[in-house]
Amino acid sequence: MKIFYASIILMVFVFLGACQSEQKVPLNPNGDSELAILMREMFEEGMNMKEAIAKGEHPKVKLKFKDILTADATEPDKAASDVYKAYAQSYISIMEGFENGASNPEELYESMVSNCESCHKALCPGPLVRIKKLKV
Ligand code: HEC
Repeated sequence: MKIFYASIILMVFVFLGACQSEQKVPLNPNGDSELAILMREMFEEGMNMKEAIAKGEHPKVKLKFKDILTADATEPDKAASDVYKAYAQSYISIMEGFENGASNPEELYESMVSNCESCHKALCPGPLVRIKKLKV
């Protein structure tokens, strides 16, 4: 019986995953996925970019953003989907725009945030609350 309860608890934890909730402690018993860690860095980078733009500076890109296509995800099926790949590709193009010294950093920043939101609305709604903080 103990094992039965333990496996129910484990299943609930696995089901919650990174997409369903805002968590400080990793819920995934195997630790955070590469993609979850990359996403947190994307968020931090986004906050730095927002600050730079507010000061009228050109945002600097430090992140290895192309990893969005290769990082292991908590739910690999999601990251393998066409929807995921399409939004990931837009994110890469936008970040390349910044790297190449885009002349319209504000607009590009806004399209970056709406791209975060679109992919999350489609695949992973939990972090949308946090993503709102990136809005200008
Ligand atoms: C191509 C789709 C896609 C795009 C674009 C995207 N995300 Fe995500 N995001 C995901 C998926 C899928 C996960 C779940 C990752 C996992 O658990 O493996 C995730 C997870 C997260 C998390 C939770 C990480 C954690 O602590 O578990 C945050 C925060 C996040 N994304 C922020 C962002 C921000 C900010 C952007 C834009 C700069 C962004 N995302 C763009 C798909 C996307």
